[in-house]
Amino acid sequence: MSAPRPSNAATRFAQFKLVLLAGESAVGKSSLVLRFVKDQFDDYRESTIGAAFLTQTIALGDSTTIKFEIWDTAGQERYKSLAPMYYRNANCAVVVYDITQAASLDKAKSWVKELQRQANENIIIALAGNKLDLSAKRQVETSVAEAYAREAGLLFFETSAKTGENVTELFTAIATRLPLENVSSRQRGTPKGVDISRPARRAPAATNNGCTC
Ligand code: GTP
Ligand code: MG
Repeated sequence: MSAPRPSNAATRFAQFKLVLLAGESAVGKSSLVLRFVKDQFDDYRESTIGAAFLTQTIALGDSTTIKFEIWDTAGQERYKSLAPMYYRNANCAVVVYDITQAASLDKAKSWVKELQRQANENIIIALAGNKLDLSAKRQVETSVAEAYAREAGLLFFETSAKTGENVTELFTAIATRLPLENVSSRQRGTPKGVDISRPARRAPAATNNGCTC
């Protein structure tokens, strides 16, 4: 005979599209995703070609499950024109710079501007200053990036994909900002996705490749 379900068995399940962007290659976008999704790190990672798609599910408290559908874009200049396909219907974005490369913050700022102009109007944007383990070679002061993030209305974290510092915190902070109030309660055992994204614009076909929605 099966055990009775606990009284808190009702659970909310929602999935959201998240895009990682940076104006530069090698700031650690793929490494952040690898740390978040598999809790691994590679010292020698191949540069991303086009974009990569991964998913990760996290629990918020006892009763809410969030599935992130993650588009990890390529930072190399030649792929720049593809980015709008990935951010246009995203619910959230992580714009990454490398704390040891001052120019990478300037490029991150231009992505933030573009997202604020062109992406879903409710998009949640986080700024991540990666490679925190290399703070001895730091070129971007925390206070400078933090002040910019506050002014631009962004979540802000300094992270290290290498050590894992602040990586879960970054994605959890985004999850807690997502609009869960519209998501219906579901019984545990039927975790069917509820995509509550507002398709502000029609998604280009390529954006849905490999996507479960
Ligand atoms: P593109 O795909 O070309 O846009 O690059 P990316 O932003 O995805 O960078 P990727 O994750 O491939 O990392 C580039 C290099 O930086 C790799 O050699 C990583 O091992 C290294 N790296 C990434 N994150 C960190 C970090 O937090 N600390 C240190 N020390 N190295 C890192
Ligand atoms: Mg990459």
